[in-house]
Amino acid sequence: MVRTRFTDLLGIEHPVVQGGMMWVGRAELAAAVSEAGGLGIITALTQPTPADLVKEVERARTMTDKPIGVNLTILPSINPPPYDEYRRAIVDAGITIVETAGSNPEPHMEMFKAHGIRVVHKCTSVRHAVKAEAVGVDAVSIDGFECAGHPGEDDIPGLVLIPAAADALSIPFIASGGFADGRGLAAALALGADGVNMGTRFMCSVESPISQQVKERIVEATEHDTELIFRTLSNTARVASNSVSREVVEILNAGGDFPAVRELVAGARGRHVFEHGDIEAGIWTVGLVQGLIHDIPTAGDIVRRTVDQAEAVLRERLALFEPVAV
Ligand SMILES: Cc1cc2nc3c(=O)[nH]c(=O)nc-3n(C[C@H](O)[C@H](O)[C@H](O)COP(=O)(O)O)c2cc1C
Repeated sequence: MVRTRFTDLLGIEHPVVQGGMMWVGRAELAAAVSEAGGLGIITALTQPTPADLVKEVERARTMTDKPIGVNLTILPSINPPPYDEYRRAIVDAGITIVETAGSNPEPHMEMFKAHGIRVVHKCTSVRHAVKAEAVGVDAVSIDGFECAGHPGEDDIPGLVLIPAAADALSIPFIASGGFADGRGLAAALALGADGVNMGTRFMCSVESPISQQVKERIVEATEHDTELIFRTLSNTARVASNSVSREVVEILNAGGDFPAVRELVAGARGRHVFEHGDIEAGIWTVGLVQGLIHDIPTAGDIVRRTVDQAEAVLRERLALFEPVAV
């Protein structure tokens, strides 16, 4: 058992979290991760309405009675979803752990705290992590440049970001971005984190509710097969390299603006990829760590083998360096 401040805080067995993932973080996946002793997270905005989110949580509860979290991602948007109503739904569903992401969590803190909800804020820089601690979050999840989705604009990979966060934070924090196995968990612990958050690894699992072709593409792809889109708009996103993402990069690098790529990056096209397995149909999110992913196991197996391998690394491989008695 790898017990840390993070597992103690949230009452979970293993310091392994399945981060919120649009179109992927549904009940089956979250429940499978939690049932195996990690923390599974349902993605609020994947549900069409706040009422559907309550139903999704209830569905997950039929699959596990262990703690499950909900991700609430707040990003700038032309037609914002009703965030306040989703927040209310989280409370009404009796959720006790929330992963916030995308913007300052302060506006949510009062309501979540009033209902005894633990808040894990995900961010991509030490300064945002420190700010989150100051506004009262219980833990931080810090995403390095390797991560799938939005890595921020600082471009600091985990090897520097994680110990920098350890130096600056007093509350528990987990490392995110580029983790797929127990070597990663052991390394995160060595760098000062209290656990890991994984997205791409859980996306490529049996319970992940996306097309088999996408999972097979992740297994086949290497760490070279991602693109960073929206760099010129200071809203960088790491996504799978395909004809669409390469075209978006080309248009923006040539001076194009958002309207010039709007149709290419439409969310409906990305959703189509996940539902129908046509990996060239649109933009879809994936991380560098796909280069370390070679199979499609159950989410429970991912949790168990991550923890087992971390223990083996800590006990056996690193034990080789114990001082030799003379
Ligand atoms: C398909 C996909 C969708 C994602 N959607 C979200 C999201 O809606 N909100 C969020 O906070 N993070 C989202 N993420 C990021 C993950 O929660 C996590 O931070 C990231 O995947 C960690 O990097 P890794 O993929 O290298 O493990 C998404 C990741 C993936 C792969």
